[in-house]
Amino acid sequence: MKKRVFSGIQPTGEIHIGRYLGAIRHWVSMQDNYDSIICVVDLHAITVPQDPRLLKGRIREFAGLLLAAGIDAERSILFVQSHVSAHSELAWILNCFIPMGWMQRMTQFKEKSVKQKEQVSVGLFDYPALMAADILLYDTDVVPVGEDQKQHVELARDAAQRFNNIYGETFVLPEPVIPDVGARIMGLDDPNKKMSGSEMGVGHSIALLDSPDVIRSKIMKATTDSHRDVVFDESRPGIFNLLTIYQIITGEGKKEIESRFAGKGYGDLKKALAEVVVEVLRPLQERYRQITADPGHIDAILKSGAEKARPLAVRTLARVKEKVGLG
Ligand code: TYM
Repeated sequence: MKKRVFSGIQPTGEIHIGRYLGAIRHWVSMQDNYDSIICVVDLHAITVPQDPRLLKGRIREFAGLLLAAGIDAERSILFVQSHVSAHSELAWILNCFIPMGWMQRMTQFKEKSVKQKEQVSVGLFDYPALMAADILLYDTDVVPVGEDQKQHVELARDAAQRFNNIYGETFVLPEPVIPDVGARIMGLDDPNKKMSGSEMGVGHSIALLDSPDVIRSKIMKATTDSHRDVVFDESRPGIFNLLTIYQIITGEGKKEIESRFAGKGYGDLKKALAEVVVEVLRPLQERYRQITADPGHIDAILKSGAEKARPLAVRTLARVKEKVGLG
Protein backbone atom coordinates (compact mmCIF):
# COMPACT_ATOMS: atom_id res chain seq x y z
CA MET A 1 0.00 0.00 0.00
CA LYS A 2 1.38 3.38 -1.01
CA LYS A 3 1.34 6.14 1.56
CA ARG A 4 -1.10 8.97 1.03
CA VAL A 5 0.01 12.53 0.23
CA PHE A 6 -2.39 15.44 0.49
CA SER A 7 -1.61 19.08 -0.15
CA GLY A 8 -3.39 22.23 -1.22
CA ILE A 9 -3.01 25.67 -2.73
CA GLN A 10 -5.20 28.74 -2.32
CA PRO A 11 -6.43 30.27 -5.58
CA THR A 12 -5.37 33.75 -4.52
CA GLY A 13 -2.78 36.11 -5.95
CA GLU A 14 -0.57 34.32 -8.43
CA ILE A 15 1.38 31.09 -8.48
CA HIS A 16 4.89 32.41 -7.96
CA ILE A 17 8.15 30.53 -7.91
CA GLY A 18 8.08 30.39 -4.09
CA ARG A 19 4.97 28.22 -4.20
CA TYR A 20 6.41 26.26 -7.10
CA LEU A 21 9.85 25.57 -5.64
CA GLY A 22 8.70 25.20 -2.02
CA ALA A 23 5.74 22.93 -2.67
CA ILE A 24 4.38 22.17 -6.15
CA ARG A 25 7.48 20.58 -7.63
CA HIS A 26 7.60 18.22 -4.62
CA TRP A 27 3.97 17.26 -5.21
CA VAL A 28 4.93 16.45 -8.78
CA SER A 29 7.89 14.26 -7.87
CA MET A 30 6.05 12.50 -5.03
CA GLN A 31 3.38 11.22 -7.43
CA ASP A 32 5.69 8.33 -8.36
CA ASN A 33 5.82 6.85 -4.89
CA TYR A 34 2.71 8.09 -3.13
CA ASP A 35 -1.00 8.04 -3.59
CA SER A 36 -1.47 11.79 -4.19
CA ILE A 37 -4.35 14.15 -3.70
CA ILE A 38 -3.95 17.82 -4.61
CA CYS A 39 -6.65 20.35 -3.83
CA VAL A 40 -7.37 23.91 -4.97
CA VAL A 41 -8.69 25.29 -1.71
CA ASP A 42 -11.29 27.87 -2.70
CA LEU A 43 -13.02 27.80 0.70
CA HIS A 44 -9.77 28.96 2.23
CA ALA A 45 -9.54 31.72 -0.38
CA ILE A 46 -12.79 33.33 0.82
CA THR A 47 -11.45 33.81 4.35
CA VAL A 48 -10.33 37.17 2.93
CA PRO A 49 -12.43 39.28 0.52
CA GLN A 50 -12.47 38.00 -3.09
CA ASP A 51 -14.00 39.27 -6.31
CA PRO A 52 -16.36 36.40 -7.34
CA ARG A 53 -15.62 36.71 -11.07
CA LEU A 54 -11.89 36.65 -10.53
CA LEU A 55 -12.05 33.79 -8.04
CA LYS A 56 -13.88 31.45 -10.42
CA GLY A 57 -11.36 32.12 -13.17
CA ARG A 58 -8.43 31.74 -10.85
CA ILE A 59 -9.55 28.32 -9.64
CA ARG A 60 -9.35 27.07 -13.27
CA GLU A 61 -6.10 28.92 -13.90
CA PHE A 62 -4.49 27.37 -10.82
CA ALA A 63 -5.70 23.90 -11.75
CA GLY A 64 -4.28 24.45 -15.25
CA LEU A 65 -0.95 25.56 -13.85
CA LEU A 66 -0.76 22.55 -11.55
CA LEU A 67 -1.37 20.28 -14.55
CA ALA A 68 1.21 22.21 -16.58
CA ALA A 69 3.71 21.88 -13.72
CA GLY A 70 3.33 18.09 -13.94
CA ILE A 71 0.44 17.03 -11.72
CA ASP A 72 -0.88 14.04 -13.62
CA ALA A 73 -4.64 13.69 -13.34
CA GLU A 74 -4.37 10.00 -14.27
CA ARG A 75 -2.18 9.19 -11.30
CA SER A 76 -3.25 11.85 -8.80
CA ILE A 77 -6.56 13.27 -7.72
CA LEU A 78 -6.83 16.98 -8.53
CA PHE A 79 -9.99 18.68 -7.34
CA VAL A 80 -11.58 21.83 -5.93
CA GLN A 81 -12.29 21.91 -2.20
CA SER A 82 -15.83 23.33 -2.42
CA HIS A 83 -16.85 20.50 -4.80
CA VAL A 84 -16.64 18.06 -1.88
CA SER A 85 -18.90 19.32 0.90
CA ALA A 86 -17.43 16.92 3.46
CA HIS A 87 -14.59 19.45 3.94
CA SER A 88 -16.93 22.03 5.47
CA GLU A 89 -18.78 19.42 7.49
CA LEU A 90 -15.69 17.92 9.05
CA ALA A 91 -14.28 21.40 9.70
CA TRP A 92 -17.36 22.17 11.81
CA ILE A 93 -17.01 19.00 13.83
CA LEU A 94 -13.30 19.61 14.38
CA ASN A 95 -14.15 23.15 15.52
CA CYS A 96 -15.91 21.61 18.44
CA PHE A 97 -12.79 19.71 19.50
CA ILE A 98 -9.98 22.19 18.85
CA PRO A 99 -9.30 24.38 21.89
CA MET A 100 -9.35 28.15 21.28
CA GLY A 101 -5.88 28.41 22.78
CA TRP A 102 -4.38 26.27 20.01
CA MET A 103 -5.88 28.48 17.35
CA GLN A 104 -4.79 31.66 19.09
CA ARG A 105 -1.19 30.53 18.80
CA MET A 106 -1.26 30.37 14.98
CA THR A 107 1.32 32.86 13.73
CA GLN A 108 -0.18 33.21 10.25
CA PHE A 109 -3.49 34.41 11.71
CA LYS A 110 -1.69 36.89 13.91
CA GLU A 111 0.22 38.31 10.92
CA LYS A 112 -2.76 38.41 8.57
CA SER A 113 -5.15 39.87 11.14
CA VAL A 114 -2.77 42.75 11.89
CA LYS A 115 -3.01 43.74 8.21
CA GLN A 116 -6.81 43.46 8.12
CA LYS A 117 -7.55 45.01 11.51
CA GLU A 118 -11.26 44.90 12.51
CA GLN A 119 -12.33 43.56 9.08
CA VAL A 120 -10.80 40.18 9.90
CA SER A 121 -13.31 37.32 9.51
CA VAL A 122 -14.08 34.42 11.81
CA GLY A 123 -13.21 32.24 8.82
CA LEU A 124 -9.65 33.51 8.79
CA PHE A 125 -9.29 32.61 12.46
CA ASP A 126 -10.80 29.20 11.78
CA TYR A 127 -8.68 28.57 8.68
CA PRO A 128 -6.51 25.90 10.38
CA ALA A 129 -9.58 23.82 11.33
CA LEU A 130 -10.65 23.68 7.69
CA MET A 131 -7.11 22.79 6.72
CA ALA A 132 -7.13 20.01 9.34
CA ALA A 133 -10.37 18.72 7.80
CA ASP A 134 -8.77 18.72 4.33
CA ILE A 135 -5.90 16.61 5.55
CA LEU A 136 -7.75 14.25 7.91
CA LEU A 137 -10.56 13.38 5.49
CA TYR A 138 -8.16 11.43 3.28
CA ASP A 139 -6.24 9.42 5.90
CA THR A 140 -3.20 11.44 4.90
CA ASP A 141 0.25 10.25 5.94
CA VAL A 142 2.35 13.12 4.62
CA VAL A 143 1.69 16.76 3.84
CA PRO A 144 4.39 18.41 1.71
CA VAL A 145 4.29 22.16 2.35
CA GLY A 146 6.56 25.19 2.64
CA GLU A 147 7.76 26.38 6.03
CA ASP A 148 4.85 28.77 6.55
CA GLN A 149 2.31 25.92 6.68
CA LYS A 150 4.17 23.67 9.10
CA GLN A 151 2.38 25.00 12.18
CA HIS A 152 -1.02 24.37 10.54
CA VAL A 153 -0.15 20.78 9.69
CA GLU A 154 1.02 20.24 13.25
CA LEU A 155 -2.32 21.58 14.48
CA ALA A 156 -4.08 19.06 12.23
CA ARG A 157 -2.01 16.31 13.76
CA ASP A 158 -2.74 17.51 17.30
CA ALA A 159 -6.46 17.72 16.51
CA ALA A 160 -6.40 14.16 15.15
CA GLN A 161 -4.61 12.92 18.22
CA ARG A 162 -7.02 14.66 20.57
CA PHE A 163 -10.02 13.22 18.73
CA ASN A 164 -8.47 9.73 18.75
CA ASN A 165 -7.82 10.01 22.49
CA ILE A 166 -11.46 10.80 23.14
CA TYR A 167 -13.13 8.41 20.66
CA GLY A 168 -10.51 5.79 19.86
CA GLU A 169 -8.58 5.36 16.58
CA THR A 170 -10.37 7.44 13.96
CA PHE A 171 -7.81 9.57 12.13
CA VAL A 172 -4.41 8.80 10.65
CA LEU A 173 -1.83 11.17 12.16
CA PRO A 174 -0.32 13.28 9.35
CA GLU A 175 3.30 14.47 9.17
CA PRO A 176 4.42 17.73 7.56
CA VAL A 177 7.21 17.32 4.99
CA ILE A 178 9.27 20.48 4.59
CA PRO A 179 12.02 20.64 1.93
CA ASP A 180 15.62 21.10 3.18
CA VAL A 181 16.23 23.79 0.59
CA GLY A 182 13.63 26.30 -0.59
CA ALA A 183 11.07 25.92 2.19
CA ARG A 184 10.93 29.71 2.42
CA ILE A 185 11.73 31.57 -0.77
CA MET A 186 11.97 35.29 -0.06
CA GLY A 187 10.67 38.31 -1.95
CA LEU A 188 12.98 39.62 -4.67
CA ASP A 189 12.30 43.23 -3.69
CA ASP A 190 12.69 42.55 0.04
CA PRO A 191 14.60 39.40 0.97
CA ASN A 192 13.53 39.75 4.60
CA LYS A 193 9.93 39.00 3.65
CA LYS A 194 8.57 35.66 2.42
CA MET A 195 7.64 35.67 -1.27
CA SER A 196 3.88 35.91 -1.03
CA GLY A 197 0.93 35.79 -3.40
CA SER A 198 -0.72 38.75 -1.76
CA GLU A 199 2.20 41.18 -2.14
CA MET A 200 1.35 43.21 -5.19
CA GLY A 201 4.58 45.19 -5.64
CA VAL A 202 6.09 44.79 -9.13
CA GLY A 203 9.34 42.93 -8.69
CA HIS A 204 8.29 41.11 -5.51
CA SER A 205 7.80 37.71 -7.08
CA ILE A 206 8.08 35.80 -10.35
CA ALA A 207 4.81 34.33 -11.55
CA LEU A 208 4.85 31.03 -13.43
CA LEU A 209 3.36 32.77 -16.47
CA ASP A 210 5.76 35.75 -16.51
CA SER A 211 7.39 36.30 -19.92
CA PRO A 212 11.17 35.83 -20.30
CA ASP A 213 11.69 39.61 -20.44
CA VAL A 214 9.69 40.23 -17.30
CA ILE A 215 11.61 37.45 -15.50
CA ARG A 216 14.96 38.92 -16.56
CA SER A 217 14.00 42.40 -15.52
CA LYS A 218 12.68 41.31 -12.10
CA ILE A 219 15.77 39.25 -11.32
CA MET A 220 18.21 41.96 -12.48
CA LYS A 221 16.45 44.42 -10.14
CA ALA A 222 16.36 42.04 -7.15
CA THR A 223 17.54 43.65 -3.93
CA THR A 224 21.00 42.53 -2.81
CA ASP A 225 23.72 44.29 -0.79
CA SER A 226 27.00 46.08 -1.34
CA HIS A 227 29.23 42.99 -1.27
CA ARG A 228 30.53 41.40 -4.45
CA ASP A 229 31.52 37.79 -3.96
CA VAL A 230 28.88 35.18 -4.75
CA VAL A 231 28.78 32.92 -1.68
CA PHE A 232 26.04 31.20 0.34
CA ASP A 233 26.02 33.49 3.38
CA GLU A 234 22.75 33.65 5.30
CA SER A 235 23.63 37.05 6.69
CA ARG A 236 23.24 38.39 3.14
CA PRO A 237 19.59 37.45 2.57
CA GLY A 238 19.24 38.87 -0.95
CA ILE A 239 22.07 36.98 -2.57
CA PHE A 240 21.41 33.91 -0.42
CA ASN A 241 17.85 33.80 -1.75
CA LEU A 242 18.97 34.11 -5.38
CA LEU A 243 21.57 31.40 -4.85
CA THR A 244 18.96 29.15 -3.24
CA ILE A 245 16.67 29.51 -6.24
CA TYR A 246 19.62 28.77 -8.54
CA GLN A 247 20.58 25.74 -6.43
CA ILE A 248 17.09 24.22 -6.52
CA ILE A 249 16.56 24.68 -10.23
CA THR A 250 20.00 23.49 -11.35
CA GLY A 251 20.29 20.76 -8.72
CA GLU A 252 23.96 21.69 -8.27
CA GLY A 253 25.71 21.64 -4.88
CA LYS A 254 26.60 24.82 -2.99
CA LYS A 255 30.37 24.41 -3.48
CA GLU A 256 29.93 23.75 -7.17
CA ILE A 257 27.87 26.91 -7.54
CA GLU A 258 30.31 29.02 -5.55
CA SER A 259 33.21 27.87 -7.70
CA ARG A 260 31.20 28.53 -10.88
CA PHE A 261 30.84 32.16 -9.78
CA ALA A 262 34.30 32.57 -8.20
CA GLY A 263 35.81 35.88 -9.29
CA LYS A 264 32.48 36.99 -10.74
CA GLY A 265 29.92 39.40 -9.28
CA TYR A 266 26.27 39.61 -8.34
CA GLY A 267 25.34 40.76 -11.86
CA ASP A 268 26.76 37.54 -13.32
CA LEU A 269 24.72 35.42 -10.92
CA LYS A 270 21.59 37.41 -11.73
CA LYS A 271 22.07 36.93 -15.48
CA ALA A 272 22.67 33.21 -15.10
CA LEU A 273 19.75 32.83 -12.71
CA ALA A 274 17.37 34.66 -15.05
CA GLU A 275 18.25 32.19 -17.82
CA VAL A 276 17.71 29.08 -15.67
CA VAL A 277 14.36 30.43 -14.46
CA VAL A 278 13.29 31.25 -18.03
CA GLU A 279 14.29 27.75 -19.16
CA VAL A 280 12.55 25.93 -16.32
CA LEU A 281 9.32 27.86 -16.93
CA ARG A 282 9.37 27.65 -20.74
CA PRO A 283 8.01 24.07 -21.05
CA LEU A 284 5.53 24.70 -18.24
CA GLN A 285 4.16 27.77 -20.04
CA GLU A 286 3.96 25.82 -23.28
CA ARG A 287 1.99 23.03 -21.59
CA TYR A 288 -0.29 25.61 -19.98
CA ARG A 289 -1.11 27.01 -23.42
CA GLN A 290 -1.94 23.53 -24.70
CA ILE A 291 -4.08 22.69 -21.67
CA THR A 292 -6.08 25.90 -21.87
CA ALA A 293 -6.60 25.65 -25.62
CA ASP A 294 -9.52 23.32 -24.90
CA PRO A 295 -11.80 25.28 -22.55
CA GLY A 296 -13.66 22.22 -21.25
CA HIS A 297 -10.56 20.21 -20.44
CA ILE A 298 -9.79 21.62 -16.99
CA ASP A 299 -13.42 21.48 -15.86
CA ALA A 300 -13.64 17.84 -16.92
CA ILE A 301 -10.52 16.98 -14.92
CA LEU A 302 -11.80 18.81 -11.85
CA LYS A 303 -15.17 17.10 -12.10
CA SER A 304 -13.60 13.70 -12.30
CA GLY A 305 -11.19 14.63 -9.46
CA ALA A 306 -14.12 15.52 -7.18
CA GLU A 307 -15.83 12.26 -8.12
CA LYS A 308 -12.76 10.33 -7.01
CA ALA A 309 -12.20 12.37 -3.83
CA ARG A 310 -15.82 12.43 -2.63
CA PRO A 311 -16.24 8.74 -1.70
CA LEU A 312 -13.00 8.79 0.27
CA ALA A 313 -14.07 11.90 2.16
CA VAL A 314 -17.61 10.67 2.76
CA ARG A 315 -16.30 7.43 4.24
CA THR A 316 -14.16 9.29 6.80
CA LEU A 317 -16.93 11.73 7.61
CA ALA A 318 -19.35 8.84 8.26
CA ARG A 319 -16.81 7.26 10.62
CA VAL A 320 -16.45 10.53 12.52
CA LYS A 321 -20.20 11.17 12.76
CA GLU A 322 -20.73 7.67 14.09
CA LYS A 323 -18.07 8.17 16.78
CA VAL A 324 -19.49 11.53 17.85
CA GLY A 325 -23.05 10.19 17.92
CA LEU A 326 -24.48 12.40 15.21
CA GLY A 327 -27.52 11.50 13.15
P1 TYM B 1 -0.55 28.60 -0.20
O1 TYM B 1 -1.59 28.65 -1.25
O2 TYM B 1 -0.21 29.87 0.51
O3 TYM B 1 0.78 28.04 -0.78
C1 TYM B 1 0.86 26.78 -1.45
C2 TYM B 1 2.12 26.05 -0.99
O4 TYM B 1 3.27 26.84 -1.33
C3 TYM B 1 4.09 27.02 -0.19
N1 TYM B 1 4.70 28.36 -0.28
C4 TYM B 1 6.02 28.59 -0.24
N2 TYM B 1 7.07 27.77 -0.14
C5 TYM B 1 8.30 28.34 -0.13
N3 TYM B 1 8.51 29.68 -0.23
C6 TYM B 1 7.47 30.54 -0.34
N4 TYM B 1 7.69 31.85 -0.43
C7 TYM B 1 6.16 30.01 -0.35
N5 TYM B 1 4.92 30.55 -0.46
C8 TYM B 1 4.04 29.53 -0.41
C9 TYM B 1 3.14 26.93 0.99
O5 TYM B 1 3.81 26.59 2.18
C10 TYM B 1 2.18 25.86 0.53
O6 TYM B 1 2.71 24.58 0.81
N6 TYM B 1 -2.98 26.83 3.78
C11 TYM B 1 -2.35 26.44 2.54
C12 TYM B 1 -3.28 25.66 1.63
C13 TYM B 1 -3.92 24.47 2.24
C14 TYM B 1 -3.30 23.22 2.53
C15 TYM B 1 -4.32 22.38 3.04
C16 TYM B 1 -2.00 22.77 2.41
C17 TYM B 1 -5.24 24.34 2.58
N7 TYM B 1 -5.47 23.09 3.04
C18 TYM B 1 -4.06 21.07 3.45
C19 TYM B 1 -1.73 21.45 2.82
C20 TYM B 1 -2.75 20.64 3.32
C21 TYM B 1 -1.90 27.68 1.80
O7 TYM B 1 -2.47 28.73 1.96
O8 TYM B 1 -0.92 27.50 0.90
